[in-house]
Amino acid sequence: MKIISGPASKPLAEAVSAQTGFPNVPVVSKVFPDGESYVRLDDDVKGEEVAIIQTTCPPMQDGRLFQLAFLADSAKRAGATKVTAVVPYLAYARQDKTFLAGEGISVETIARMLKAAGIDEFLTVNIHSEHSLAQFPFPAKTASAIPLIADYFVKKGYSGAYALSPDKGAMYIAQQAQKVLGGNAGHLNKTRDRYTGQTVQTAEGLNVKDQTVIILDDIISTGGTIVGAAKILRENGAKHVFCGCVHGLLIGDAEKRILDAGVEEIVGTDSVPGAVSKVSLAPLISQALKGAV
Ligand code: R5P
Repeated sequence: MKIISGPASKPLAEAVSAQTGFPNVPVVSKVFPDGESYVRLDDDVKGEEVAIIQTTCPPMQDGRLFQLAFLADSAKRAGATKVTAVVPYLAYARQDKTFLAGEGISVETIARMLKAAGIDEFLTVNIHSEHSLAQFPFPAKTASAIPLIADYFVKKGYSGAYALSPDKGAMYIAQQAQKVLGGNAGHLNKTRDRYTGQTVQTAEGLNVKDQTVIILDDIISTGGTIVGAAKILRENGAKHVFCGCVHGLLIGDAEKRILDAGVEEIVGTDSVPGAVSKVSLAPLISQALKGAV
């Protein structure tokens, strides 16, 4: 297998090459003056299975999806025998059903576009809803980075911390972290108005007095969910509050708002390279790709 370094995930792809021993294929990329993307494989892939590692987080998630599609097409034209897309953060994964009449299912549209571009298999990390993968037109898997994030906190001395999910639907995330942290786990409840986007968070039977709590979620976007959860934790007497997320999009002033709400540290992964991407997905992706060979 060869690893193709998508322009949005070059350091991660190079780390995966180093950890797996699979040769790295550099990519030449540029954006034309009119905003269109250009990519070119800078090594031979004829007769090879390839994995393209390319995250599709903001900014320019649409452009990054097109770069991925163009790389898949380039690899197939250059004679690659199989193309696996490794997309650490998959854009549009939250539009995974028709919430309101007249909507489409964006994540399924993306998958069909990628299939048409030449992708044969798909791997992502903590996709928002695993059920989406069953509708993809190729074999598709999601791996979980939560144990790696929990391990980061264990190494900082927080074993036994309470793992809290801000939403009942994400309780499985708190439970995965609990296995590593060894403390208790629980969840808040969150409801969203689909027209205004406003959310309401509530807690039932939450016992976090004097505890260290780590709020764990798949995505932080505007930060509203974490700010609301931190407020509830403070009201319930938590001593220390941290936050771990797989995909720290941190739109606008989200990071500041979360820290101002009393969260002592935000920990994310390199699915979204930036200030909080303190945990690398390279071991997780390397293990998955080695299993696939
Ligand atoms: C939604 O269900 C997700 O799991 C996250 O909780 C959500 O995307 C976070 O968004 P925000 O940071 O804007 O509250």
